[in-house]
Amino acid sequence: MLELIKKIDKECGTPFYLVYPERFVNNLQNFRKAFTDIYPNFILSYSFKTNYTSILLQQAKNIDCFAETVSSMEYNLAVQKGFATNRIIFNGPIKNFEDIKKALANKSIVQLDSEYEIEHVLKVHKENPTLELNVGLRINMEVGSGNIALQGGLRQSRFGFTNDMLKRVIPLLKDANVKIISLHGHTSSSDRVVENYRHISKRLMQVRHDFELDSIRYINVGGGFFGAAPEGIDVSQKPKYTDYAKGICETLLADNWFKEHKPYIVIEPGASVVSNVFELVTKIYQHKNIQGQNFVFTDASYFQVRPFLNKMNLPFTEYSEKSEEPEIQADIVGATCMEVDKLAEGVSLRHYTNGDYLLFRAVGAYRQNLSPLFIIPWSPVVEVSSTGCFYISKKRQDATDLLNLLEK
Ligand SMILES: Cc1ncc(COP(=O)(O)O)c(C=O)c1O
Repeated sequence: MLELIKKIDKECGTPFYLVYPERFVNNLQNFRKAFTDIYPNFILSYSFKTNYTSILLQQAKNIDCFAETVSSMEYNLAVQKGFATNRIIFNGPIKNFEDIKKALANKSIVQLDSEYEIEHVLKVHKENPTLELNVGLRINMEVGSGNIALQGGLRQSRFGFTNDMLKRVIPLLKDANVKIISLHGHTSSSDRVVENYRHISKRLMQVRHDFELDSIRYINVGGGFFGAAPEGIDVSQKPKYTDYAKGICETLLADNWFKEHKPYIVIEPGASVVSNVFELVTKIYQHKNIQGQNFVFTDASYFQVRPFLNKMNLPFTEYSEKSEEPEIQADIVGATCMEVDKLAEGVSLRHYTNGDYLLFRAVGAYRQNLSPLFIIPWSPVVEVSSTGCFYISKKRQDATDLLNLLEK
């Protein structure tokens, strides 16, 4: 690996991402198989926001995934990447009238999240009463009642319609002959356990039943799964794709309406299919000991490794041509001017002199998309095949790229 890193460094410098497209395809195929082995009507929709790397979007399309998008920009990205519009799911809390009108006309699966969107749909109906309108509804999981531990220790989910809201909006949609074809229950939990998905599935079927929604074609449990963990992370106690598939299918198939009508089960995985698809290689520039605290300076930034400053350090490997140094406990720090720029905290290192490399694993989800153009440019992306060949698919951004973004 050191030889490969050195070769790439020579061509494009550090830091750089290594991307393994074959891993992405395997993850998606394995997730799909876990469901279709139990239940055939299944849609795998890749969560665009997790990583926009072009090759990944292309591959998701090639293997018949739907596109899960959460903004007008992402929706247009899916269209431009060639996803058929009836294979685009349009989620997200903020959609303007024009976005909704276009997506409805395109027969995309539009998941409404709030009451203002109902008004937009009714306006589209008023403008064109003969147009058949199909919509989905995101259902609030009412997690405050204690069933799902929300991400970040939050107590209430702000997304989707509560039962009280549903009582107001469903009659309005029915009166305008708008068909409700999808129920959506994405919930970002802190523990990602299978039980959460049993709860989501039950709640969606309860809503289906209570509001007599007989035109439902999609039961969408969202993303938020565990998976695609790299080596170095203990997964022995974590759910597998097959555990989620079993929990969700079993719960849904226990519902008589579901068994009879056989709607599609939809999932929208992001992190669970892309985490292990990217690695980040960064170079060490300096070791400093300041009042007993070791700092190891690298040329990457925490946005690329730990954008939410999570407590847990990502697994990494040291690569060096030199022999080992005495072991130190150190914070690995980044190239920005912020004190909080720490890629990892309190880790032990045996290579920490100028020119050594660190390779961080599991940086595929939410790192590239959340990395700002701040002090250091976006890093190049280098595709690596299973045979070890590499190809620089995205070059490092430079001052000209920055000016183009700022001035156009
Ligand atoms: C609606 C929706 N679907 C899918 C996802 C993907 O979640 P994850 O990356 O945890 O699988 C998200 C993430 O926030 C989301 O908001």
